[in-house]
Amino acid sequence: MHIQTLNDGTHVEIRPPTYEDVDRMLAFFTSLPDEDRRYLKVHRLDRDRAEERVREALDGRAVRLLAVAGDRVVGDGALELSHQGWGRHLGEIRVFVAPEFRRKHLGALLIQKLFKEAEKREVEKVVARMAAPQVAARKVFERLGFHVDAVLPAYVTDAAGAKHDLVVMSCTLDEVWRELKDFYDSDHWPDG
Ligand SMILES: CC(C)(COP(=O)(O)OP(=O)(O)OC[C@H]1O[C@@H](n2cnc3c(N)ncnc32)[C@H](O)[C@@H]1OP(=O)(O)O)[C@@H](O)C(=O)NCCC(=O)NCCS
Repeated sequence: MHIQTLNDGTHVEIRPPTYEDVDRMLAFFTSLPDEDRRYLKVHRLDRDRAEERVREALDGRAVRLLAVAGDRVVGDGALELSHQGWGRHLGEIRVFVAPEFRRKHLGALLIQKLFKEAEKREVEKVVARMAAPQVAARKVFERLGFHVDAVLPAYVTDAAGAKHDLVVMSCTLDEVWRELKDFYDSDHWPDG
């Protein structure tokens, strides 16, 4: 898709995954710190699931983006779509960034690109769900204009078996774009 320059000058390529990325996707999720992996919705990403993610992206069930630096995946973002039923106006965003690439606005960049895809698909409301201890996620989504819709008590069982509250955040596309514009206008953002 695009080569982007992060706010420390690092270059990353942002593009959808292909089947050739499956090993890189597995390596990325395996390399996440235990603290992040314990809150993954799917606790273990195996080859079949990674291939299914590529398939979903290719057939339009989800929009997926990888951030690639050199030959390595350093960020992964998804917009999951329901297409039908009562949730068809919703899109759910999930984003992961490698620890050494955090606080360089890569997470915000992936979210921005997923918003553009949501807009093309006429999604009205973007949702993000996270376990209560995922504080950075809450901060970045708050920074981009999301608000907390609900905190559902003990809805998450982490990989170690502990229970946590599930925080549901959302933002309509109008709200998001206003906040994103402020965010990028106020920063030294090279490629926006
Ligand atoms: C959440 C996550 C994707 C954020 O990615 P990131 O690239 O570090 O975030 P950004 O650099 O784009 O942050 C944008 C803004 O969000 C806020 N923010 C991000 N991380 C923050 C933190 N740890 N503490 C406080 N504010 C934070 C800041 O306002 C930041 O802007 P600033 O650095 O100019 O102050 C990353 O921390 C991550 O992968 N966490 C583990 C997985 C996870 O919880 N994913 C969410 C699942 S929905």
